[in-house]
Amino acid sequence: MNLTCSYLGLELPHPFVVGASPMVDDLDVVRRLEDAGAAAIVVRSLFEEQVHHDELAAAAAIDGPAHAFAEATTYLPEPMVRGADDYLELIAGLRRSVDIPLIASLNGVHGGRWLDYADDLMTAGADALELNLYHLPTDWRESGSAIEDRLLSMVSGLKARVSAKVAVKLSPAYTSLPHFARGLVDAGADALVLFNRFYQADIDPENLDVVRRLELSTSSELLLRLRWLAVISAQLKTPLAVTGGVHTGIDAIKAVMAGASVVQVVSVLLKRGPEFLATLRSELEGWLEEYGYASLEEMRGSMNLSRCPDPSAFERANYMEILRSWRGL
Ligand SMILES: Cc1cc2nc3c(=O)[nH]c(=O)nc-3n(C[C@H](O)[C@H](O)[C@H](O)COP(=O)(O)O)c2cc1C
Repeated sequence: MNLTCSYLGLELPHPFVVGASPMVDDLDVVRRLEDAGAAAIVVRSLFEEQVHHDELAAAAAIDGPAHAFAEATTYLPEPMVRGADDYLELIAGLRRSVDIPLIASLNGVHGGRWLDYADDLMTAGADALELNLYHLPTDWRESGSAIEDRLLSMVSGLKARVSAKVAVKLSPAYTSLPHFARGLVDAGADALVLFNRFYQADIDPENLDVVRRLELSTSSELLLRLRWLAVISAQLKTPLAVTGGVHTGIDAIKAVMAGASVVQVVSVLLKRGPEFLATLRSELEGWLEEYGYASLEEMRGSMNLSRCPDPSAFERANYMEILRSWRGL
């Protein structure tokens, strides 16, 4: 069965890519991912804040203890204090250890000099880049369009710095996602990754504290991605990757039918182990054979907004139908 797909200038044997996660910190796990046939690995992110932290630390070393540095050390969790140099070493170490394509990840919401690291990441051995725009607006003074302009100029600024292919990982929270997606492509994005998960803080009312808890995803999170894959893939030729809620071969099939070229997985591998990648691949392959497909490509986008038999399912009409369908009481 031909499962090949093109993504970020890479010819991948199948669509399953390991999404950004700390799995890359353990070489044994990385080798197991390679043995299980991972098509590529996205390395956990280098955060804009880490680079700034490094710069402040360097300035403090030259100028003596500065207030700015003392403050900056308080908002980064300990593992993230290790900054850009460690990240470059991580990429270089992975490159020496495995042959599969590596996608380095930059994570931030402002342009500027920190993006210069992109070149170093490629020199260290990355094959392509993912830029994660994990943006959470909190300031009423910055409008939606100002935020979008800032993020778009970040993408074009990064593309102006490197010849590498860049995928942009984004959230669904834009007024017109198709318009913003188009803007990202015009700014130079070579692929889009749908979507970031929002890790919401809970409140501990007794101790007046906030509680951080990382819950892994479930397949229920896929539906949001399916909708937007279907809408965007009908209008853009740019490759789309899905991230969030793929736990089975059938989940992957739905994502590809909605228009994904690449399927990123993290939670399912953290739950079931690196070897589960091979199971996902064989589930996908078995299903395609059973239903008479000649290749994965043949299936891609077959259920997107322009090709599915009932496009209204992805539009406002669906909302009305769904409300009307309730038969509970
Ligand atoms: C422990 C953990 C660490 C993660 N670290 C990163 C990261 O550094 N950068 C990033 O872009 N996404 C990161 N993610 C998000 C994943 O790449 C992925 O988008 C998300 O988990 C949804 O996919 P899933 O449903 O397959 O888990 C992380 C996820 C987990 C669970």
